[in-house]
Amino acid sequence: MNTNRNIAIIGASGAIGCAFVNHLAKDHNNHLYAFSRSKKSFSEENVKSGHIDFEDEQTIVKAAESIPDDVNLDLIIVASGILHGEGFGPEKSLRDLDPQIMHKVFHDNTYGPMIVAKHFLPRIHKEQRSVFAALSARVSSISDNYLGGWYSYRASKTALNMMIKTASIEVSRRYKKSIIVGIHPGTVDSDLSKPFQSNVKESKLFAPEFSTEKMLEVLDGLEPNDTGKLFAWDGKEIMP
Ligand SMILES: NC(=O)c1ccc[n+]([C@@H]2O[C@H](COP(=O)([O-])OP(=O)(O)OC[C@H]3O[C@@H](n4cnc5c(N)ncnc54)[C@H](OP(=O)(O)O)[C@@H]3O)[C@@H](O)[C@H]2O)c1
Repeated sequence: MNTNRNIAIIGASGAIGCAFVNHLAKDHNNHLYAFSRSKKSFSEENVKSGHIDFEDEQTIVKAAESIPDDVNLDLIIVASGILHGEGFGPEKSLRDLDPQIMHKVFHDNTYGPMIVAKHFLPRIHKEQRSVFAALSARVSSISDNYLGGWYSYRASKTALNMMIKTASIEVSRRYKKSIIVGIHPGTVDSDLSKPFQSNVKESKLFAPEFSTEKMLEVLDGLEPNDTGKLFAWDGKEIMP
């Protein structure tokens, strides 16, 4: 594993985001910036905690500015996202589509991570390898959609993948060694997956710690020509 890295985790209060912070903080050469909506604080000396709420772009601007000017980021992970919330869940049928819920799901899963990209990508290394990864999902794959349902969640992640691809093209012109990808964590035990775990075999339901360690292995092994793609926790590329 690389050491002495500057790392930003957004969504650090979630099951997956928190596991990323805890794992990466064990290496005291890493310097972490952990941002969350619910202002979770971490006690490790090498972790600075901060606030980001996608409802307010200024919180994202301030979060990026809170990282000292002379620090370039080696790794940025956006581990936030929603599948269900108060009074709504993933749609089973066209009948369930509600424009306000659709907007909220796209806002949190697509727009939020890309506004983070807008303000954080200018902070990566110019000449050195840097990775920006946003948590996407296998269900975003159009070619892999055999079951239907989950309209807004699927589509918000498909749109995220497209924006990642588009940003990867733009950013690679200036930052030749940048790697901008989506990553699928597997099915992970968290608040997000809790209502949908009953059909998942025990062996297929990952602990957040297992999933994040696997994803870090994948991210550590990527090269600049992998930029723009979507990978799963096991390193396999997921086709659009
Ligand atoms: N768990 C799975 O099986 C699974 C499978 C495929 C993909 N994923 C993806 O993995 C990512 C993490 O999921 P998880 O399982 O760790 O879920 P989780 O435990 O529910 O965490 C979700 C995180 O998203 C943050 N968040 C949501 N809306 C936000 C907003 N408007 N502004 C800022 N932060 C916001 C939450 O912040 P607060 O708690 O601070 O409010 C929390 O940190 C998501 O993108 C999800 O789609 C998960």
